Amino acid sequence: MISLSTLGLFLVVKAARLPVSPSKTLLRFADQVASFGRGTVLDASCGYGRNAVALAARGCTVVAVDNDQGRLAALEQVKTAYIAERASPDVRIGKIFTVCTDLKAERWPFAPSSFSAIVCIHFAMTHLVPCLLSSLQEGGHVYVETFGGQGENFRVLPKAGQLRDLLSRHVEFKYYKERKVGPIEFNSVSVTLFAQKPYEREKEWATRAPGCPQERSERGGAKAVKRLIIAVGSVVKIPLKPARDWPI
Ligand SMILES: C[S@@+](CC[C@H](N)C(=O)[O-])C[C@H]1O[C@@H](n2cnc3c(N)ncnc32)[C@H](O)[C@@H]1O
Repeated sequence: MISLSTLGLFLVVKAARLPVSPSKTLLRFADQVASFGRGTVLDASCGYGRNAVALAARGCTVVAVDNDQGRLAALEQVKTAYIAERASPDVRIGKIFTVCTDLKAERWPFAPSSFSAIVCIHFAMTHLVPCLLSSLQEGGHVYVETFGGQGENFRVLPKAGQLRDLLSRHVEFKYYKERKVGPIEFNSVSVTLFAQKPYEREKEWATRAPGCPQERSERGGAKAVKRLIIAVGSVVKIPLKPARDWPI
């Protein structure tokens, strides 16, 4: 007799077999994301992990974060097989570490300069820009692809020029595309961008990003993330656990 929860998980895994195509635009930049220092990439938030799988197949170690434990459980079920199926020849296969947490600026769980790249796709992230910039290493890449203009998305999409203005003093854009969506009075846009955080000593114009609350908070997530990164470094599987259980 199959329990309802087992059946639910099975259906979720079946569902996870469907949305596996990664973002096509991300794929254009995936080799650059993967090449930088072979460091750790943050996929925030990852959903069922279609983009995390594509990056791990290119050799990246990916910390895949979402607040939906069901989606992460589905990803855990399929990740090894999916990465192996999609692995590029002659490339060391990467790994995915799932982390279940609520991504909020006031409780940002990652230490400064934790990641060599950050990928943020179809997730309302404008308020997280200072934290994303803080956790990105110098020389690292950030890829952002907002929601498209379907339905009521214009309500959560950034305003025209907003993301460019927030980022332009801190990163060097390699690709930036903005498209107006929704009713004109909302001034909303969908944005796809790929940018690099410069080495500060090499770029006079590069300024420190406005602080992420976590950097100022003594109870910030730096300690937890140090442990997380150490765990990733020593290839220890990070269990799914809610943020409130983290030692922060
Ligand atoms: C539209 S999906 C996109 C997932 C993935 N980036 C992709 O392209 O397939 C948005 C994801 O954001 C997650 N999410 C929403 N709010 C969140 C939050 N505050 N913290 C972490 N994840 C969140 C949802 O659970 C969902 O998986």
